[in-house]
Amino acid sequence: MRTPITELFGIQYPIIQGGMHYVGLAELAAAVSNAGGLGIITGLTQKTPADLAAEIARCHDMTPKPFGVNLTFLPSFEAPPYDEYIAAIIDGGVKIVETAGRNPEAYMPALKNAGISVIHKCTSIRHSLKAEAIGCDAVSVDGFECGGHPGEDDIPNMILLPRAEEALSVPFVASGGIGTARQLVAALALGAGGINMGTRFIATREAPVHQNVKDAILAASELDTKLIMRPMRNTERVLNNTAVDRIIELEREKGADLKIDDIRDLVGGVYPKVMTDGEMEAGAWSCGMVAGLISDIPTCAELIERLMAEAKDIIRGDLAAWAADG
Ligand SMILES: Cc1cc2nc3c(=O)[nH]c(=O)nc-3n(C[C@H](O)[C@H](O)[C@H](O)COP(=O)(O)O)c2cc1C
Repeated sequence: MRTPITELFGIQYPIIQGGMHYVGLAELAAAVSNAGGLGIITGLTQKTPADLAAEIARCHDMTPKPFGVNLTFLPSFEAPPYDEYIAAIIDGGVKIVETAGRNPEAYMPALKNAGISVIHKCTSIRHSLKAEAIGCDAVSVDGFECGGHPGEDDIPNMILLPRAEEALSVPFVASGGIGTARQLVAALALGAGGINMGTRFIATREAPVHQNVKDAILAASELDTKLIMRPMRNTERVLNNTAVDRIIELEREKGADLKIDDIRDLVGGVYPKVMTDGEMEAGAWSCGMVAGLISDIPTCAELIERLMAEAKDIIRGDLAAWAADG
């Protein structure tokens, strides 16, 4: 399939695996890229720029295909050495970067001078327009359904994507809530040049996470995610568990006075415990509503081939027949 996104990134299928903390390691990124999509290593999961350089080298050993690196600019007390992470990306010969969180403007010259294509993840049209204005090559439009940080506007993709199609000149992908071929077709119909999936890719054979995490996604329905950290305007969609219940209780108690210190034990340092050790109650971890649509653990190649084959059947089958019927 050829779309503005496959053309931009030099990939076979318009399917991207979004950066995910402690999930986006070389194993998953290489598996997605080898299957014809775009795999993405999560930069900040690597503790130092040298570790990221080693992870990039490991990924090159596993795939000859293009892959990207995610750089997340989130509010943090001690900012990571982003310039050094970018140097590791450039020296590692990576040509695609997914940015997220704060505006990446300060880092655009370094990235663009190195010939890197930048796709910025945005949860609103105003941020998408800003990304376009500062020279991003594409936007990943993340709807309210998404796992992780949906922003504060609460606009689902059924509205956000057609608004992006009206407003943007650069290509964009639909991100958030997607896991099936019907949704892929819908995203393309709404103007997106492809899709970005997070949660769906965790429930794959190659995702380097504990089996408990995959089982939890399979067991979850679309009703099982919660929004946390709303009072701090750092909203995150997570899978419900006892730690999340406790966070919501504290948010109710403290209201607008809630401070990060009140919930630090429940949100900080959680990912290695959940993703690596399988301690499912260790704290809050991102998960999308699409969990309700996930019922198997295929390989990345099986998943991507299935999505593409079913999407083409839907387009050439039902949709073409309905259109032909006047
Ligand atoms: C476990 C998990 C960790 C994530 N970590 C990050 C991250 O570190 N940086 C980032 O930009 N997005 C992160 N995301 C968001 C994904 O890249 C993607 O935008 C999102 O999952 C799309 O929504 P979906 O899960 O409904 O497919 C994470 C998502 C999940 C589920």
